[in-house]
Amino acid sequence: MKYPKEYLDEIKTRLKVSTVVSKFVNLKKRGKEYVGLSPFKNEKTPSFTVNDEKEFYHCFATSEHGNIFDFVMKTQNLRFGEAVKYLANLAGMQPYIFSKQDEERERKWKEYSSIFKRYVDFYHEELLKNETYTNVREYLKNRSLNKQQVKKFKIGYIEKKPNFFEKFKNDFKIEDLLETGLFYLDEKKKIYVERFRGRLIFPINNISGQPIALGGRIIEKSDYLAKYINSPETLFFKKGSNLYNLDLARKLSNKLDEIYLVEGYMDVIGLSKNGVENAVANLGTSLTDKQILTLNQFFDDIIICFDSDESGYKAALRAAENSIKELKPEKNISFLFLPDKEDPDSFINKNGKNYFIDYSKQNKISIHQFIFSHYKKQTENNPSSMAIFDKKLRSIANTIRDEYIKKYVLEYFLEKISDLAPHTSQNKKNYFTKKTKSLDVTKKHYNESHSLTAVELKEFSVLYLIMTNLKLFKENIQLIENIKIFTDINKQIFEKIILSLKSEDNTSISALDIDSQLIGKINKFAPIKYILQNKSNNEYEIIELLDDIRRDLNNYDLEFRIKELESKFSKDLSEVTFNELKELKKKQNIN
Ligand code: CTP
Ligand code: MN
Repeated sequence: MKYPKEYLDEIKTRLKVSTVVSKFVNLKKRGKEYVGLSPFKNEKTPSFTVNDEKEFYHCFATSEHGNIFDFVMKTQNLRFGEAVKYLANLAGMQPYIFSKQDEERERKWKEYSSIFKRYVDFYHEELLKNETYTNVREYLKNRSLNKQQVKKFKIGYIEKKPNFFEKFKNDFKIEDLLETGLFYLDEKKKIYVERFRGRLIFPINNISGQPIALGGRIIEKSDYLAKYINSPETLFFKKGSNLYNLDLARKLSNKLDEIYLVEGYMDVIGLSKNGVENAVANLGTSLTDKQILTLNQFFDDIIICFDSDESGYKAALRAAENSIKELKPEKNISFLFLPDKEDPDSFINKNGKNYFIDYSKQNKISIHQFIFSHYKKQTENNPSSMAIFDKKLRSIANTIRDEYIKKYVLEYFLEKISDLAPHTSQNKKNYFTKKTKSLDVTKKHYNESHSLTAVELKEFSVLYLIMTNLKLFKENIQLIENIKIFTDINKQIFEKIILSLKSEDNTSISALDIDSQLIGKINKFAPIKYILQNKSNNEYEIIELLDDIRRDLNNYDLEFRIKELESKFSKDLSEVTFNELKELKKKQNIN
């Protein structure tokens, strides 16, 4: 039953969050907020806050967050309707009376849920008790499913010629029995048959744990029967809205940030058997926005881990393109690809929980990385292919609803594309080598110097310039003091020189005690000497040359830090990282 929004708003206006919460938690006022010990966690220092103005509570220890309805539902274990009744009463309001239509729907729901409950309980008990089901037991054993999982997931077995319908048609209206989708009329034989006969059944529960649909698996190979069938859509079961095992998994949301989203029933059960309980399945249909939003209500990190086959990969790509729309700040969606031919069930059975968790940590990639790398693989290094690639990524980024995230993802894509674009990348990478190349006098010399990195060559130039102009830089030490030197050994020499230039004594290279081999190398390879050869060597020019190199070296530093931040940003998508990145890029352009 859906309560009208006005009724719920009326309750909210009458009840402050702090009024409701303080019925169960001792609150102390602190500024505009109240603080107290979290009801979601055993703690000694308060991390639970209530904000009446914003109409929510937030627990920093568990990330639990919500309004008054969420609060009583979660702490008092009530269903939404019950929470509304409780709070309406507290607010001094009459219980809401539903219209005729509401009432009819409510009546239908009562019938529907009790038929389902009896049906599921009945066949579950049968599976546990009935000794004649040797083939079923054999099947369970082969899949190493024991009683514990059968009980936890209330798995049942429906015999090949069941008569539940006959048994219960006196207790329920035929129309209501049909409404559940558990039965249908065989037009030819004019009898009602059970859709899931001869199958192992997996109850699909709503978020409060009541069964509302079934999945059914055959236990013997068959050419004409589908391996799995699922309940049809009914008044109370909509495929894109539910997730298998969400009712149990959501209870872990105060302990865990991650939820694994897998394809099938057996994946959820296999993970659970191995101690990974935070998993749900979307039941072979494509993932909907609604499912993502629901998962995000409880978990910050959604890890999508489908079967490692072609259809699993395609489903993952579809899921990525669809769910990126719903990406929110502070929330992550990532993808985990398993080794060939594995699904989560087979993988964890082979390798165990710890391996699975480690594998997941090391191999999951975030949604935007996945999308980028997928389309990159399809792209050839020519302008028209690149243009299509660029366009595709922009259009995907543009579907993102959250403006912040849209901006960041777009930025990420464009950044990565510009790294790839043939003209720009060439310019960037070869900038320095080109210069050195043109300065080289002989091919042999070039080959030797080529084993040095561009940074080392720049550093050699700095050292060369300083060593050949000691007097100049002793008088103008501020020009060289803050030059960034990366390579250890060059840095040591550089610092030695600075120290000596700062001292009173007359500085000479021979007095510096520098490894003569290194000096030889500098003299041989410092590219700057070829420039100096052709110049008149006035001081002004020397200072300008040095300044050029200094700027280049600082840019290397920036570039390095930008690379680091980019990789950080691609993982955390945080605004802070993004802004830092922006700042650095600005600097890079100024330099
Ligand atoms: N599915 C379905 N109809 C099918 C096949 C699959 O609805 N004919 C759905 C089911 O929800 C199933 C999920 O897709 O759980 C994953 O399918 P699959 O990978 O084939 O099944 P597994 O989970 O690997 O199950 P099993 O190990 O029992 O073969
Ligand atoms: Mn599978």
